[in-house]
Amino acid sequence: MNQKAWGGRFEGGTDASVERFSESITIDSRLWREDITASIAHARMLSKVGLIRLDEADALVAALESIGAELAAGTFPFRIELEDIHMHIEAALIERLGDIGRKLHTARSRNDQVQTDFRLWIRAAIDRLGEHLTSLQRALVAAARRHHGVVMPSYTHWQRAQPVLASHYLLAYAERLERDRERLLDCRRRVNRLPLGSAALAGTSLAIDRDFVARELGFEAVTHNSLDTSGDRDFALESAFVLSLTASHLAGWADEWIVLNTTEFGFLKLPDALCTGSSIMPQKKNPDVLELIRGKAAAVIASLTQLQLLVYKLPVAYSRDLQEDKKVLFEAFDTTESMLAMMELMVHGMRLDDLSIRSRLADGFMDATALMELCIKHGMPMRQAHELVGQAVSLCEKTKRRLDQLSVRDWQGLGIPNGIDPGSVLGVDRAVQALASYGSSGPGQVEGQLSLWEERLAGR
Ligand code: ARG
Repeated sequence: MNQKAWGGRFEGGTDASVERFSESITIDSRLWREDITASIAHARMLSKVGLIRLDEADALVAALESIGAELAAGTFPFRIELEDIHMHIEAALIERLGDIGRKLHTARSRNDQVQTDFRLWIRAAIDRLGEHLTSLQRALVAAARRHHGVVMPSYTHWQRAQPVLASHYLLAYAERLERDRERLLDCRRRVNRLPLGSAALAGTSLAIDRDFVARELGFEAVTHNSLDTSGDRDFALESAFVLSLTASHLAGWADEWIVLNTTEFGFLKLPDALCTGSSIMPQKKNPDVLELIRGKAAAVIASLTQLQLLVYKLPVAYSRDLQEDKKVLFEAFDTTESMLAMMELMVHGMRLDDLSIRSRLADGFMDATALMELCIKHGMPMRQAHELVGQAVSLCEKTKRRLDQLSVRDWQGLGIPNGIDPGSVLGVDRAVQALASYGSSGPGQVEGQLSLWEERLAGR
């Protein structure tokens, strides 16, 4: 019969089916590094405040380090009946150090311990994800520089809208990812608070020093209410939200590139190395990676819902339900990281097909808005200018012409005032040139943003 760390008041052993049902070691073994790090800080604190002797702390730290080395080497044995990573490491300590090992859990509960580990893990994962976001932004900015001269259509409702610079289009995604990064950093601030010292839920009568542990572990602050802390998983949900939004951004983007890569569009060429073929149709080159980025977003987005369902009905302070939080968030981080890495490869390898884009660039009256704005510059009320250009488009459709193919007589017939030269803004290149407002696709504006991005990323 094995003796549980909590076995004092129990008679007989735990049912084996309960051990299998309630174990978390298969998931939280992933927290071993954090568990060791946090335990070392805790041991140091215990000796600092006199709850254990310095030589005892030294022995604990040395043993924790050697257990860590075994865990890193993969030689540390896991046993279901030891439940979780915390129990495994504590049991190994006791095996090695006897009574000294029995002192480490002083003024600590697994409730504050697991949360400390989890916060440390999330903090590191956030930092990794931040780096992925930055490299993806770098790839986008480099692609924007490569394609800077290219003019392409922009769309709303998948209908041709106005011509834009390809660099403006690519920087749109860099900008979107920047908000993801900001959200991530903001979320990190709330992840980075130390729960340890809340003990089970009421704190402890022992004279601990929580600020010392916070400093040792690089936490920005300690949490303030032990009861609230005990069952708090807001930090996990908030991370899942940030991930889910990034995943949606990537999914929408992947979907767009799947479309732009079709023969029908012919805007985007993908590298062979990032595409797959068909087992029956020899000509096929499929964007499976983009489809999987879109598809994998489902699980990341679902992680937020799952965590919300996990916690919304819980009372204050720890319930065992919370053990189910880690699998979800580990996977959400893993998946988002892999999606970002694949998208980065995609951006490095893709090429916008300028010739193909250009061959149909004059279609769709994308210069209409530029003409309308020219009329406004000459004093025409906006609604009147809109009506006039709308009628010009209608005439073009009936006579199968483009706006820049209408004659002086046509313009006179449409009522354009003398002194307005439609030719000065018609055609997609002139229409793009005419754009000037801050943040627009005008060449000066985009050049400015591109340089800003290059500087910003050089400093990261
Ligand atoms: N494995 C547990 C978890 O992940 C550790 C905390 C257990 N606490 C308890 N009171 N049973 O949540």
